[in-house]
Amino acid sequence: MRLRNIPGAREEMLVNPYVVQEPEQWRGRWREFFGNDRPIHIEIGMGKGQFLTALAAANPGINYLGIEKYSSVLIRALEKQSELDLPNLRFLRLDAENVTDIFATAEVERIYLNFSDPWPKDRHAHRRLTSDRFLARYAQFLAPEGFVAFKTDNRGLFDYTVETATACGWELSELTYDLHHSPYEVGNLHTEYEDRFAALGNPICRVVLRRKA
Ligand SMILES: C[S@@+](CC[C@H](N)C(=O)[O-])C[C@H]1O[C@@H](n2cnc3c(N)ncnc32)[C@H](O)[C@@H]1O
Repeated sequence: MRLRNIPGAREEMLVNPYVVQEPEQWRGRWREFFGNDRPIHIEIGMGKGQFLTALAAANPGINYLGIEKYSSVLIRALEKQSELDLPNLRFLRLDAENVTDIFATAEVERIYLNFSDPWPKDRHAHRRLTSDRFLARYAQFLAPEGFVAFKTDNRGLFDYTVETATACGWELSELTYDLHHSPYEVGNLHTEYEDRFAALGNPICRVVLRRKA
């Protein structure tokens, strides 16, 4: 995705009350961080936060952490959150490469991956957020009954994800190649990219991944 640099965004990350500073210190203690015993759901590569903000507003009984690599993108989510001040929503400016430094075994109930960067070249496949490398990382901190929910309009990335997850021993469910015209559309909150690509007529694919018992 093309990124527009926003002057001051990086500095804002260091002082904004909704951005968790030194998140490694909360590894294994995220419920303590939120001050309650509610489940933790995360979105990796959350972009400007439309999806996670709507989810957090609708589900006050869940704690949400949004992870985004770039300050200039995350700052848009912070603008929304400063208006809403949702107590169950916080953000990490973090490269997903380091996600296992942040969460301990079984600490996260749900991982959302929405319209992740496709990295179409084979030599970049390891960077895809649904590569075997990343799936192995998620398995380290996903609760036994937890799952990864993945949406994209990119059929190449979707097929790759289905193949990779199957080969890595994950169980696939709720698979659809046209989410918006499927029963799973009920309650489906749209992301920024989802709205953009659906408006172009692109069908949206979705699958849920669970580790086999
Ligand atoms: C195509 S956008 C999708 C944004 C949003 N999820 C949506 O559906 O509208 C992908 C986002 O993932 C972020 N991203 C890409 N690689 C990442 C990584 N390794 N760690 C964290 N965020 C990443 C990008 O900066 C970008 O904001």
